[in-house]
Amino acid sequence: MNNQVNPSSILREANHLIVPSSFKPVIVRLENISKIYNSGETEVRALANVNLIVEQGEYCAIMGASGSGKSTVMNIIGCLDRPTKGDYYLDKANVAVLGDADLAQIRNRKIGFVFQQFHLLPQLSALENVMLPMIYAGINTAEQRDRAISALKQVGLGNRLNNKPNQLSGGQQQRVAIARAIVNQPVLILADEPTGALDSRTTKEVMDIFSDLNNSGITIVMVTHEPDVARQTQRIVWFRDGEVVHSHLTPADIV
Ligand SMILES: Nc1ncnc2c1ncn2[C@@H]1O[C@H](COP(=O)(O)OP(=O)(O)OP(=O)(O)O)[C@@H](O)[C@H]1O
Ligand SMILES: [Mg+2]
Repeated sequence: MNNQVNPSSILREANHLIVPSSFKPVIVRLENISKIYNSGETEVRALANVNLIVEQGEYCAIMGASGSGKSTVMNIIGCLDRPTKGDYYLDKANVAVLGDADLAQIRNRKIGFVFQQFHLLPQLSALENVMLPMIYAGINTAEQRDRAISALKQVGLGNRLNNKPNQLSGGQQQRVAIARAIVNQPVLILADEPTGALDSRTTKEVMDIFSDLNNSGITIVMVTHEPDVARQTQRIVWFRDGEVVHSHLTPADIV
């Protein structure tokens, strides 16, 4: 990584470290989160005392060198993993205290995931892939279909409902994954390097969809290594060695 951070941003963000900057509802509140992995004899401190607030409607990028803790913090925010220490409030509920079944339910209801490798089921059509999260949520089949069709239309794929993933381009597959992520009307979209497997043209296609979603009010947190991608968000959080070193960079700070 040869990205530099504009030093003038550091003073400006000092006031925002753990205090919300407005009176919007807080979607994500991480309080003194640490994560330690024990692999054999060695301990890896993946996150150390991370404090982070994401308000409703924010569009946030998480950046930092490889190994700085980006995926670890996304897994905790996404309720896929638990912190070793600290509290995590998702949409005001303390999820650090929940068991596996409750966490799975919260994930299904409150969070939409988008991954670098799309993770679509190859034997299912675009429509069936988007219906999946609603099956787990116990929604009836007619409503599943209607909502899946409208989500696919929202990402510009109303004419590709019956195509299987291998009949779609990378950008189209990622748009199906985005439709799947929004179909349960989550409070938060989490995307871990969603353009990492895409060329520059399809990256733009996918980033335009994320911007549209954010403009419609959806809160988005996205990990990226690409400065061009980060610059299309509103706020950049910078990790180094498991710590948040900048919490409120702006696109202009990413040079
Ligand atoms: N399951 C695990 N067991 C042991 N150590 C782990 C585990 N997962 C991650 N780590 C370590 O925790 C640290 C943070 O890893 P993480 O995957 O969060 O980094 P990252 O910022 O996402 O990196 P990248 O940009 O390469 O994806 C690294 O030192 C990594 O080796
Ligand atoms: Mg990672």
